[in-house]
Amino acid sequence: MLTAHPSAPYLKRGIPAGQAAKEMVHVSATPVLALRGVSKRFGAVQALTDVELEVHAGEVVALVGDNGAGKSTLVKTIAGVHPIDEGVIEWEGKPVSINKPHDAQGLGVATVYQDLALCDNLDVVGNLYLGRELLHRGVIDEVTMEKKARELLSTLSIRIPSVRIPIASLSGGQRQVVAIARALIGEPKVVILDEPTAALGVEQTAQVLDLVERLREQNLAVILISHNMADVKAVADTVAVLRLGRNNGSFSVKDTSQEEIISAITGATDNAVTRRAGRRGAEATQ
Ligand SMILES: Nc1ncnc2c1ncn2[C@@H]1O[C@H](COP(=O)(O)OP(=O)(O)O)[C@@H](O)[C@H]1O
Ligand SMILES: [Mg+2]
Repeated sequence: MLTAHPSAPYLKRGIPAGQAAKEMVHVSATPVLALRGVSKRFGAVQALTDVELEVHAGEVVALVGDNGAGKSTLVKTIAGVHPIDEGVIEWEGKPVSINKPHDAQGLGVATVYQDLALCDNLDVVGNLYLGRELLHRGVIDEVTMEKKARELLSTLSIRIPSVRIPIASLSGGQRQVVAIARALIGEPKVVILDEPTAALGVEQTAQVLDLVERLREQNLAVILISHNMADVKAVADTVAVLRLGRNNGSFSVKDTSQEEIISAITGATDNAVTRRAGRRGAEATQ
């Protein structure tokens, strides 16, 4: 009797499972997270207008734009801090409502904000598990937390002198990587990093960018807000430009020069996206 083969054909071609999985991810066109026509207004300020964004598993999308372009607002709509007014947020291809931070966390969105919100007086383990301490018979299970903290840091190739030293004694770069590691405790699928290298020197920046690479290797979808074109060129696959709350281009990083990205940020650009946005704007005002 003939049986249907629901299994993917790659299995029959003898491709190792790991590689097949990568191909699947690559072939899969469904983004983990997509924003479709998202708008957000604060009183008289239209912070976002008709914004589109897609991010796939194993992809780093840099979100760039001048001050006031809407980057933080966009991130906060995804994180559930500011619910959207119009448009649709899709999670793995299905529309979802994100009205509060809990909704975003429940889906698998983790956000690392610029202020990091680490507790200086607690050690690395304490910070990683802050608010979600592991319990054993009603008592905080320091041993397991420390073991898991070590495992997590080692998976991410993060080197910290000791997981038992207070956060206050770490460098800026080490604090940033701890804050990112903390975001991974809840096993998210999308990680949003708001200007993770803004306050860091060259070497510490490299440490954080290395970690972003690890996140991609772990098949996470990463949204990286950055002002730094060198960082964007170094780690992002795609760059999405916002200008005055609207999309102003989405580029493949390896095929796009720094100058092209900068002119999309400043508006000194003429490309298919801006022409289309211009036409739509003109239609809307007719
Ligand atoms: N909570 C808020 N209330 C009122 N206006 C806001 C608020 N947050 C942001 N805005 C306005 O929305 C626009 C986009 O800001 P923002 O998202 O912070 O830009 P970016 O992060 O790209 O610098 C700005 O005009 C800003 O003043
Ligand atoms: Mg901002």
